[in-house]
Amino acid sequence: GKYDFGLVGLGVMGRNFILNVADNGFTAFGNDLDTEKVDALIAEGGDTNKVNASTDAKVFVDALSAPRKIMLLVPAGKIVDAVIESLLPLLDKDDIIIDGGNSFFTDTDLREAYLQEKGIHFFGAGVSGGAKGARLGPSIMPGGNREAYQHVKPIFEAVSAKYRGEPCVAYLGPKSAGNYVKMVHNGIEYGLMQLTSEIYDLLKKAGDFSNEELSALFSKWNEGRLQSFLVEITSKILTQKDDLTEGHLVDQILDKAKQKGTGKWTSQNAMDLGIPVPSIDIAVSMREISALKAERVRADMLYDRPETKKQDKVELEKWAEEALYFSFIITYAQGLHQLADASNEYGYELDIAIIAKIWRAGCIIRAALLADITEAFQKDRSLPNLLLSPTFVEKVQGTVGSARKLASLAATNGVPLPGITNSLTYFDAYTATRLPLNLIQAQRDYFGSHTYERLDREGIFHTEWEK
Ligand code: 6PG
Repeated sequence: GKYDFGLVGLGVMGRNFILNVADNGFTAFGNDLDTEKVDALIAEGGDTNKVNASTDAKVFVDALSAPRKIMLLVPAGKIVDAVIESLLPLLDKDDIIIDGGNSFFTDTDLREAYLQEKGIHFFGAGVSGGAKGARLGPSIMPGGNREAYQHVKPIFEAVSAKYRGEPCVAYLGPKSAGNYVKMVHNGIEYGLMQLTSEIYDLLKKAGDFSNEELSALFSKWNEGRLQSFLVEITSKILTQKDDLTEGHLVDQILDKAKQKGTGKWTSQNAMDLGIPVPSIDIAVSMREISALKAERVRADMLYDRPETKKQDKVELEKWAEEALYFSFIITYAQGLHQLADASNEYGYELDIAIIAKIWRAGCIIRAALLADITEAFQKDRSLPNLLLSPTFVEKVQGTVGSARKLASLAATNGVPLPGITNSLTYFDAYTATRLPLNLIQAQRDYFGSHTYERLDREGIFHTEWEK
């Protein structure tokens, strides 16, 4: 018989995804130009009636049942177009192509429009959870044609991660909605990673916490309200022994972070939309600063920094937990705010409650907090910002004090905590009725007659300022 599901790109993600599909009762056929990868999948699949593969695109396409459901797990960019072009002459009307990579959302829009003309449905479906997620259950973020999604739905719901039995996949919206949501997921991911790294740094410098103590602490936090994949893996990372030296691996890793672009795109597009996401922006900037290692080493020799005063460990631990929780909330709030705005701007018809819901398991930013966030948006589906949710007021109010403590510690001790500081500043500004931007308006009017509005009466005003 024909196979239920096709997948192009049999790297680790692709192979794992196909095996996951097969584990869930569907038959799957893989395609890759690399013979070794094809052979590896066939060997691992066991029964070729269930899992098979070929390097030949025609054999691959012919093996699939109609409408064909073909997922691409290949690197974003030109390769996606090349694969599409190679498949296109072999496909029939109403076949479905799903791009599972981190494609830039406007590329997805172009591809969708191009393929629609040819009668092919195109989906951008972000897949999160890394290699293990692909194998055991990722969070999947599909966008595209709603009717066509019905063909993909049973397979995606079966293979996705489950949160208390509920699948971590849902139809998100038309066009590039899925890639856009995955992009912002990654922006939030950058933010949360930056925040965890700051807490690690501060506890080491101001509290003399050892890697073992830090690992135990993150592990303890992972039992509480901070429970999350990133906190969990941080705990594990911190005690990993190094094979090459006596110590811990983390201490030997070069402090230069790489990036593939999704965090930067989130920030760039937030700027285009006019939505502030400073906790994400600073995470991108910190990766950039980290990359300037040689310059940092030179500059370090030129300037003094205050000696870091040691703090009481117990107190520090409490502040750190609260500040991290506070900043996590702020980071999710910013990303979701961006999604709500992008939904209007690009016609995605996003339901933020559904997005938070499918992030509760499987993905890199999964966290206990997402269950609370889901509830907040289920209660008020048009909530513009999480900070306006009554259920979050207490969580934020109860922890912001510790973010203040850490921000001032950071400033006086010369330890950079930019994610926490930016989150705090965002909070203080977003919750301020009056900001000093009245002065900026005055300056604009002073030098450029740009006009201003008034608090006390309607209209547009300009003043001949005394110069
Ligand atoms: C995920 C990850 C995944 C990838 C990141 C890494 O959700 O599973 O986000 O997509 O690991 O894109 O991004 P950087 O290389 O930019 O850190």
